[in-house]
Amino acid sequence: MKVCPANRLTGEIMLPGDKSISHRSVMMGSIAEGETRISNFATSADCASTIECFRGLGIAIERNGRNVTVEGKGKHGLEKPNSPLDCGNSGTTMRLVAGILAGQPFDSILTGDESLRSRPMKRIIDPLTAMGGQIESQDGRAPLTIRGRKMTGIEYRPPVASAQIKSCVLLAGLFADGQTTVVETTPTRDHTEIMLRQFGVDIDVRSQVDAMRISISGDAKLSGTTVNVPGDISSAAFFMVAATSLAGSRIKLVNIGLNPTRSAVIDLLRRLGVPVKVEQYAHGVGEPAGDVIIDGGIEGGGSANVLSGPIIANVIDELPVLAVLGTQLERGLEVRDARELRVKESDRIASVVTNLKKMGADVEEFDDGFRVARSRLSGAEVDSFGDHRIAMAFAVAGLLADGETTISGAECVDVSFPGFFDVLAEVTE
Ligand code: S3P
Repeated sequence: MKVCPANRLTGEIMLPGDKSISHRSVMMGSIAEGETRISNFATSADCASTIECFRGLGIAIERNGRNVTVEGKGKHGLEKPNSPLDCGNSGTTMRLVAGILAGQPFDSILTGDESLRSRPMKRIIDPLTAMGGQIESQDGRAPLTIRGRKMTGIEYRPPVASAQIKSCVLLAGLFADGQTTVVETTPTRDHTEIMLRQFGVDIDVRSQVDAMRISISGDAKLSGTTVNVPGDISSAAFFMVAATSLAGSRIKLVNIGLNPTRSAVIDLLRRLGVPVKVEQYAHGVGEPAGDVIIDGGIEGGGSANVLSGPIIANVIDELPVLAVLGTQLERGLEVRDARELRVKESDRIASVVTNLKKMGADVEEFDDGFRVARSRLSGAEVDSFGDHRIAMAFAVAGLLADGETTISGAECVDVSFPGFFDVLAEVTE
């Protein structure tokens, strides 16, 4: 994929439905009693993997573009799959579905593509084993053979800040005897907690001095519901950074999810002096959402140039494109405490640093992050490393560079945002 320098971005953009919320809607819809209707379901390949997994578990799921109907069969309605369930590239699918499968009265196998088979799964095997589950892996990696077992609730403190670990344990707790509690010391996205409530589950969330305690009972039942998925803020972030970096831009991102555990990217842009407006803000029973309007041009750019600590979990998926933004900031950008980036769809610290260097940026790599200085970018041949967010971040870098940028393996954008390059072409001048 070739990307040429741009002057500005203008127009209105409808983003695909949020990936994290879409996954959860199908998972919970499948184990709920009765029908669940989902609108604006993510177009991403990852969420299609979740649908396929639940079809493999005997759930009827009808899909008509962005509308999905799930015929839930209740907590005891899943059937033994005939073949391994393929999670594709999707870590969320594998880790959350493993939680649901560990307590089923049958065995199952979860597998995925080469990238997913190289990612760490011990982080979910450990708590599931502590609950009585039995999971065989390839030295902590997929394929995972899940031997359905009777599970018992535990109290678990995830050793890394991860919504996937939290969600895996809570979903497993639905199939375990007694109470299951996750004690979270660094807040992560809370879509699972919000959606469990939408499905009628009485989940107990208590804030302590230094942690959140989230508890669920094995007796809980889910009832089918309707879910309106807001636009994906992580996909919107590419356009936010591009518009911010190109003075004279004006874009409207329509109906974007604004859950506070995901929206630190907006706070950061505001701290940089970028006028980010929110209109049509609505917070119903589910997730908050609104239209986000950005007028481009970075004014201050001074005070927010180190990102570290608990904020990292809140911008984890936006860090590749924020690295690109760093090249445009007077004081650059330093990201620390982000070692988790090394175990995403690619080693995102290495991917970002390699590509930025190719484009002539002044960048330093750390074990847990990177430092980017303000740099003039030159068009170059860069690699997606098979990672959708790297491909899109470097499409944005290409807009800001002198000369043409070529991204190899750019088709992986389909993992979260099919049609990304068409939308980008429509709004760039
Ligand atoms: C996700 C959580 C995050 C994020 C991923 C989606 C989720 O992963 O990076 O894209 O839907 O729960 P971790 O929770 O492992 O950090």
